[in-house]
Amino acid sequence: MKKNIDDLAIFGGTPTFREKLHVGRPNLGDRERLLARFNDILDRRWLTNNGEYVQDFEKKIAEKIGAKHCIAMCNGTVALEIAIRALELTGEVIIPSFTFVATAHALWWQQIRPVFCDIDPATHNIDPDLIQQMITPNTTGIIGVHVWGRGCDIDALARIARQKNLKLLFDAAHGFGCSYKGQMIGKFGNAEVFSFHATKFFNTFEGGAVVTDDDALASKIRLMKNFGFEGYDNVIYIGTNGKMSEISAAMGITSIESMDGFIAINYSNYKQYLSELEGFPGVSLVHYDESHMCNYHFIVLEIDEAMTHISRDSIVEILHGENILARRYFYPGCHRMEPYRTYFPHSGLLLPNTERLVKRVMSLPTGESIGKGDISNICQILRLVLENGSEISRRISRRNAAGYDQVPSYGE
Ligand SMILES: Cc1ncc(COP(=O)(O)O)c(C=O)c1O
Repeated sequence: MKKNIDDLAIFGGTPTFREKLHVGRPNLGDRERLLARFNDILDRRWLTNNGEYVQDFEKKIAEKIGAKHCIAMCNGTVALEIAIRALELTGEVIIPSFTFVATAHALWWQQIRPVFCDIDPATHNIDPDLIQQMITPNTTGIIGVHVWGRGCDIDALARIARQKNLKLLFDAAHGFGCSYKGQMIGKFGNAEVFSFHATKFFNTFEGGAVVTDDDALASKIRLMKNFGFEGYDNVIYIGTNGKMSEISAAMGITSIESMDGFIAINYSNYKQYLSELEGFPGVSLVHYDESHMCNYHFIVLEIDEAMTHISRDSIVEILHGENILARRYFYPGCHRMEPYRTYFPHSGLLLPNTERLVKRVMSLPTGESIGKGDISNICQILRLVLENGSEISRRISRRNAAGYDQVPSYGE
């Protein structure tokens, strides 16, 4: 246990953890059942192309959400692209900049301009009150993102979409297993898109899905994700390859069986972080409303440097030194990433809350591979850092002035 700032690894101490603790280390579920399913797939030599496992997975997901259709896909990004195309979005679509860049890319990939809207700092979700002023004659839709799995203001977005005759799609990549006003996320708008990427609490290695109650839209999406094929040799539509493999679906079915357990672990980790970190001036943990269903997948801290006297980036750097690979999210904001920053260099002027939040937010490791003792150690380091914010900041500044090359690089 480190008691002194000289013990921190960035100042020469030994890292707290020998192995790196990743945010989003995959949850695995029951290995025996998973391997039995893999064997079955191999025995039957049916590896992809709408096999039994994919069909079963889609049925189970639709049932869980209470939706009519689930179309499983190879990943969330392709699912977004196909949903956007199937909804015939064109021109401009309003999205938050505070999201993973895939939300914006899925539009730009199809020559649609993402118009970045600011967020409500209290919820980190798109602020419906600001949408009105971003609507132009070219606007065809809105994509809401349920950041951290906390449903965005779906009622207000639906009202605007109805009044302005816009399509409403949700990027629900974070929202599987969460609810909004008594209904599962997945039930809202024209359609919702999930990601089942390995870093999500519920994964299919790579994977995603579009969920909708709209029969015609579902049929179109089914065609689009399979090259437009309707039966053998009969292509009736433009399409691509968005299919989920049988192996991924088997992982998904196994994950469904363990899902309640994953959520229980996430919940218990969240409660422990809350009790160990609450009360530090300038540090707030993103809270989940327990009257909703929630996956508790993200442990998110907001750092107010004016009170902690140490920046979010310095805290992340210190944690990386201890092999705790905390992540900045969604830094630096889509509008500051290419190609958007070149095409729309001034969009930040309309995004003060996003600009502020991307400098304050960081996420911490959780999931089934993070133990109670790990969380205690992580929180103990954080407390040491927060109790000595000014002194550590001074030392980091001196070190940087002396030409030290600062660390962190961020990949997936
Ligand atoms: C908000 C959001 N949208 C879209 C995606 C893209 O999903 P995928 O990685 O499955 O393509 C992610 C995933 O990481 C995400 O977090």
